[in-house]
Amino acid sequence: MKTLSALAISLLLPATGLHAAEPLVWTIDTAGSGPVVSPVMHGIFFEDINYAADGGLYSELVENRSFEHKNGMHAWTETKRGQATGTTSLEADQPIHANNPRYLRMNVMVGGEGYGVSNLGYGGIPLTTGEEYRFVLHARTLEGYAGSLKVRLESPDGAVLAEGKIEGIKANWQRYKLALTSSADSASARLVVMVEAPGQVDIDMVSLFPKKTWKGRENGLRADLVQALADLKPGFMRFPGGCIVEGNDLPNAYRWKDTVGDVSIRKQNWNRWTNEDVNKPDGQYHQTYGLGFYEFFQLCEDIGASPVPVINCGMSCQFQAKQIVPLDQLDPWVQDALDLIEFANGAVTTKWGKLRADMGHPEPFHMTHLGVGNEQWGEGYFERYPVFYQALKKAHPEITLITTAGPGVDDANWRFAWEKFHSGTPADIVDEHYYRPPAWFLDNAGRYDSYDRKGPKVFAGEFAAHRQDRKSTLDAAVSEAAFMTGLLANADVVTMSCYAPLFAREGFVQWTPDLIWFDQKRVMTTPSYQVQAMFGNNRPDSIVPSEIKGNQFSEKYTGRIGLGTWSSKAEYKDVVVRQGERVLFASDPETQFGGWEKKAGNWSIREGSFAQDGDQQPALILAGDRTWTDYTLNLQAKKTGGKEGFLILFSTADEKNRCWWNIGGWGNTAHAVEYPGYESPHIKGRVDTGRWYDIRVEVSGNEIRCFLDNQLIHQIKRPFRQKV
Ligand code: AHR
Repeated sequence: MKTLSALAISLLLPATGLHAAEPLVWTIDTAGSGPVVSPVMHGIFFEDINYAADGGLYSELVENRSFEHKNGMHAWTETKRGQATGTTSLEADQPIHANNPRYLRMNVMVGGEGYGVSNLGYGGIPLTTGEEYRFVLHARTLEGYAGSLKVRLESPDGAVLAEGKIEGIKANWQRYKLALTSSADSASARLVVMVEAPGQVDIDMVSLFPKKTWKGRENGLRADLVQALADLKPGFMRFPGGCIVEGNDLPNAYRWKDTVGDVSIRKQNWNRWTNEDVNKPDGQYHQTYGLGFYEFFQLCEDIGASPVPVINCGMSCQFQAKQIVPLDQLDPWVQDALDLIEFANGAVTTKWGKLRADMGHPEPFHMTHLGVGNEQWGEGYFERYPVFYQALKKAHPEITLITTAGPGVDDANWRFAWEKFHSGTPADIVDEHYYRPPAWFLDNAGRYDSYDRKGPKVFAGEFAAHRQDRKSTLDAAVSEAAFMTGLLANADVVTMSCYAPLFAREGFVQWTPDLIWFDQKRVMTTPSYQVQAMFGNNRPDSIVPSEIKGNQFSEKYTGRIGLGTWSSKAEYKDVVVRQGERVLFASDPETQFGGWEKKAGNWSIREGSFAQDGDQQPALILAGDRTWTDYTLNLQAKKTGGKEGFLILFSTADEKNRCWWNIGGWGNTAHAVEYPGYESPHIKGRVDTGRWYDIRVEVSGNEIRCFLDNQLIHQIKRPFRQKV
């Protein structure tokens, strides 16, 4: 640490610990020099999970527009109006293209007021008054149908909000368009396509987009969601995953070539994040690839993010089918990686550069990074990855390659990977993933302090603080922020980071927590989003040395004791705190509440006990000293009413900065220890009303042991240092 040259800031500590607030001196050496922060330090990770692509960022309003969904008619309903009669069937004879084999045939006997199909989109099509929508479909009639096709947008009660007609359907597949302007707002309209007279009509690629997409593009993206991404000022965008890259099995793997070219000839696939229950809204989840690699590169360019594609390395998900491409058949997979670089950066005279130009972007996309595999591990990966590495480095030494350390950190797979990287397996950047409790993030802010400075760089490629309830909360976000300060402090090792997953569509969710939530019309950001935005918008060029002094961290559980309840009534007696042989505190109901501080609740003395009769969440009394360490708390407790059991406090500063043992919490179903940023595993259990329980909490250094009726329920080492 260099001496203070320019600036010293003194802060008063909030009362998070035992002492009255002490001055905290943070010394920043503004003239000193430290690690340079990579311009792509903070980025985003996009994967089609929770309806992030189809039904999400991709603006298509029709679900299953091409009838390629596993459950063929998914999202479509046969619709008859007036006296109409007819049949619908899925056919595959002479389709638009072999990649898009299925289409819908409507055979109409009586036209009535219309026979056809309707589509509710993803839980209802959102419409806005006066807005224009682009309707497109492919149609043909093999039997010379001379009538028209009626296209309508209808409200849930059947009101027609927009209507148009398609005339002159030909015998071969043709693309037809209509502009529809909605006369009213609706959050759950439907699209209806009807044949008006007897005859046969085939339809496919039935599509409806708002005209107002991001930058007004056809086949465009949802402007409000793109704006939420742009506002993060992401340095890069990792795409398309995630496990989606791997696929559950190899046919399900993400192959970028399936996702480019005209949308009607993209080879679709099912989504491995599908809900097994087909009756759920997200049952049999599908990927249209309408948001494919071209759209990804274009989006990166729009929001100033460097594209970071991830390519399948010849392995499907190792948690699922575990399929693996034999080494002597790996060439097409390696070729995919080489061709992707050509598609992104190659001259328009090359095969894939020309496709990029034909799609509308002759200039290169300036791709600089490529991930080889997602969360791969073991020998299988370390046989395949070097094959990619050699081929890619030979053809494209300018591309930085990202390899993986597996799905977690600090486990056997992670150690195996790092041993490889430290013993000759070449690597530019290693991708590490952590979905851990908030306390892990606080404790791991210094994780990279001790990483090898001469080894490969690190990409914190997927992370999120996972509370037990998997909710997005401020404490989780703050722990992520704390962790990210550690990434910045170690910017000489860590060069990239991103939260995961990015998006979740309300009602179509397979994974929480997520960074950005949305529904048909709204975008809702989370505390974690604010953290990412704060870092993304304030990325430093380099880190100057600094040091915090005056504040101590305790390795020990330190602080007062207390009693409480949550929506419950209880009585407590015989409360004694001992430090070895020494009695630190012994409650005496005769003195009323001598030594206790009432914080919340309706407390009284009843028959020699401290009784709490309110239903506060929580009711609390505290006693003792903030400096207490290494003690045993003994007491008796009886539940007298309410929904839960007891709250027994220890290692507590005040009602906010407290640890409690929650006995019979979560609706009287479980016991757990909780303190800000931490929740222990839940142990199943309940508290019966009207009987006395013997409770003991042993606080010893950084470990606690909690006993109920002399039975050990929890033994927990504090996973991070307590601020005192
Ligand atoms: O982000 C969700 C999933 O978590 C990703 O697909 C995968 O890489 C990880 O296991």
